[in-house]
Amino acid sequence: MLPKKLQKKLDERTANNSLRKLGAVTNLIDFSSNDYLGFSKNKTIFKRTAEILNTENLKLNGATGSRLLSGNHQLYEQAEQQIAKFHNTESALVFNSGYVANLGFFSSVPQRGDLIFYDELCHASIRDGIKMSDAKSYKFRHNNLKDLTSRCHVERPPAERAGSRNLHETFEIYVVTESVFSMDGDQPDLKLLTDFCTQNGFHLIIDEAHALGVFGNNGEGLVQELGLEQEVFARLVTFGKALGCHGAAILGSKALQEYLINFARSFLYTTALSPHTVATIISGYEELSKTPEKVRLQSNIEMFQNEIAARQLESHFIESNSAIISCIIPGNDRVKHISEILKKKGFDVKPILSPTVPKGQERLRICLHSYNKHEDISHLIKQLHSLLKKDV
Ligand SMILES: Cc1ncc(COP(=O)(O)O)c(C=O)c1O
Repeated sequence: MLPKKLQKKLDERTANNSLRKLGAVTNLIDFSSNDYLGFSKNKTIFKRTAEILNTENLKLNGATGSRLLSGNHQLYEQAEQQIAKFHNTESALVFNSGYVANLGFFSSVPQRGDLIFYDELCHASIRDGIKMSDAKSYKFRHNNLKDLTSRCHVERPPAERAGSRNLHETFEIYVVTESVFSMDGDQPDLKLLTDFCTQNGFHLIIDEAHALGVFGNNGEGLVQELGLEQEVFARLVTFGKALGCHGAAILGSKALQEYLINFARSFLYTTALSPHTVATIISGYEELSKTPEKVRLQSNIEMFQNEIAARQLESHFIESNSAIISCIIPGNDRVKHISEILKKKGFDVKPILSPTVPKGQERLRICLHSYNKHEDISHLIKQLHSLLKKDV
């Protein structure tokens, strides 16, 4: 039997209509996956991956150990060089997923006595990593540089505020945000934020999980679209979203890479990715530079925004120019109900419930893809329009 305290927590979730359940994969029209460019089903990537494995004579089903022991097969070096070049950075270090990359980074980089400032809507993986750190952490209001500025001022140790040089050498300040927020689809003003961090000597970390493949000429992400790659301390890119496969990398200096290899426990104490997975990452990056899918995705994003404007629905949506567009429908019951109705009409649009998002901010998280048809987008918006008006 489950211990009573645990059962009570589950019962509370049931009472709030927020109990999570694993669902089956459906054949509905996809407005929910993170496969923005359709790369998970891309045949060129699939074939190229097999070709790489054959050329390298890597007939292995698994990596056989952690990267420091037996798992560092030759594709890792190839992938990391390719990723670093693509992202115009000194080095890339591949982790098993974005979640473990954030855990590894934030649990090992900021030290006792250091300060971390993070956007209040940062992903769970960032917050969990911060919780494991010995540094002090403070959240600032979402995308609010003014709030960050005043918090930095208030929370800095007093002697540093008074300008003591010695103290500054004893602690570092880290600022972390996302270039595209996973639940809201919106962005911080990255130019202002990098200027602020550069001027103050703070280390800026940007999670680009939902920007890779969506922003930048070849899908390099928002940091590169804005030409800010030399001003950030570290970036995270993940491969389970627009790249359609699995894994992640931390981009930064060679020295940072060496530090993480030595101290990031989620890097050290786990079996490495299989050669097949790393070959898929390599093929995914090759495809990013060539693919027409990015243009199709941008056209769908533009079309979606035009249609909601034409129907005067903007006030229901969080402003976004990314592939994630959230329609706020307060209340777990209501948002679940609307998502069920849409499901019956053939659309896969996921409700995001509290406590994943704050109470009153429950929403339908609509993800757009290169492969969504214009007529399906139109139809979805039409259905949504009538549901929102009917107040179901
Ligand atoms: C902003 C952000 N960072 C990190 C992650 C974790 O990435 P992964 O799915 O590769 O573990 C996610 C996943 O949802 C995310 O949205």
